[in-house]
Amino acid sequence: MAFEQPKLKYAFDALEPNIDKETMEIHYGKHHAGYTKKLNAAVEGTDLEGKTIENILMNLDKSNSAVRNNGGGFFNHNLFWEVMSPDGGGKPSGELGKAIEDAFGSFDAFKEEFAKAAAGQFGSGWAWLCVHEGGKLEICSTPNQDNPLMPGIGCGGTPILGLDVWEHAYYLKYQNKRPEYIDSFFNVIDWEEVASKYAKEK
Ligand SMILES: [Fe+2]
Repeated sequence: MAFEQPKLKYAFDALEPNIDKETMEIHYGKHHAGYTKKLNAAVEGTDLEGKTIENILMNLDKSNSAVRNNGGGFFNHNLFWEVMSPDGGGKPSGELGKAIEDAFGSFDAFKEEFAKAAAGQFGSGWAWLCVHEGGKLEICSTPNQDNPLMPGIGCGGTPILGLDVWEHAYYLKYQNKRPEYIDSFFNVIDWEEVASKYAKEK
């Protein structure tokens, strides 16, 4: 069974004005579609065929750049679309809200640290909020399409929130103003979804 892009749970223009329709169309329809297609080509006929994407990434041979780049690109974007919603924004309550306060001091301190990781990732990459077994949270960033599931990436745990800071994610609307894009992302974060991932993965 080949990998397929999950359907978006909202329309391309639903995250406006934070993320514009044209960026969403190209990002989902061209970039993510491209990673998905190339991932399928890279695993076809190999012993990776039929495995889950999580299994492939957790046991990744990092010298296999086709699987590393396109498997990462497939998984990372799946997560990215999931953790956004037109009804998003605000801050998490409940168990996740408390875990964020415990780990970072306050939601605002968390936001600042996450934004710093996203703004400070040189070139293309991702910022992550990850959960370790036992519920401990960690913020980190990775270059290109790497992610924390991959072994020896210097960033561990299971990602429950991810922000794409490739220029293709924001350049049409924000040009070089990555910090403004990062700030807008916080208006569309689906904290219910992130909290449900936290509960599942901790
Ligand atoms: Fe992207």
